[in-house]
Amino acid sequence: MAIDTKRNSHEKVETNTGLMAILIFIVISIGGLNEIVPLFFMKETTTPVEGLKPYTALQLSGRDIYSREGCVGCHSQMIRPMRAETERYGHYSVAGESVYDRPFLWGSKRTGPDLARVGGKYSDDWHIIHLTNPRDVVPESNMPAYPWLAETPLDNSTIVAKMKTLQTLGVPYTQEDLDGAEAALEGKTELDALVAYLQNLGTVIKERY
Ligand code: HEC
Repeated sequence: MAIDTKRNSHEKVETNTGLMAILIFIVISIGGLNEIVPLFFMKETTTPVEGLKPYTALQLSGRDIYSREGCVGCHSQMIRPMRAETERYGHYSVAGESVYDRPFLWGSKRTGPDLARVGGKYSDDWHIIHLTNPRDVVPESNMPAYPWLAETPLDNSTIVAKMKTLQTLGVPYTQEDLDGAEAALEGKTELDALVAYLQNLGTVIKERY
């Protein structure tokens, strides 16, 4: 009799799609939580790496242009801890480098190279030419040109609000940073901001192989 009852309850699950779906959901949730919850308590995922500074007003504006123009669709910012990657790009990315990135721009598509450590690799002038027409410096490039960035003045009307929002999320902006933000963008173009952002990428961990 005991064996029969067991078989019946198992049969019940197997023949009832709704019940099976609920049970699968519960099992996967437990597995998922086991993987995800410990990350909330691991300090290295929330502690900035030594020397990490919040983005300046100009870099932060550049970051928004990077998002707006969809650069993340062709470029990742995530060097994996594998030899082929570290030899090409430098030290692998660590979580503490991205704590002020909201939302992060790690990406996953690499039509172009990873940009996690592109800061300092080229001069500002190189970036200015490259972004205005990539083929002027890399003849075989299939990256799109962004000629309007150099002609578009940077909008500074929302920068303080953006920085204040980030402040509420834990980015340590000072009152001085907020007070100087609008002035820092005065007279700058969108290209200036994007280049400032790119030149800062990955520079906290400078080691290159
Ligand atoms: C359609 C895909 C595509 C998009 C979109 C794109 N890129 Fe690229 N990017 C490439 C390719 C391919 C290369 C390699 C050839 C070259 O250097 O131009 C590249 C190279 C680069 C490099 C040089 C990297 C290095 O280490 O040599 C930088 C910097 C760069 N892109 C920045 C940007 C920025 C900023 C944007 C957005 C404004 C952007 N890219 C949008 C495809 C893309």
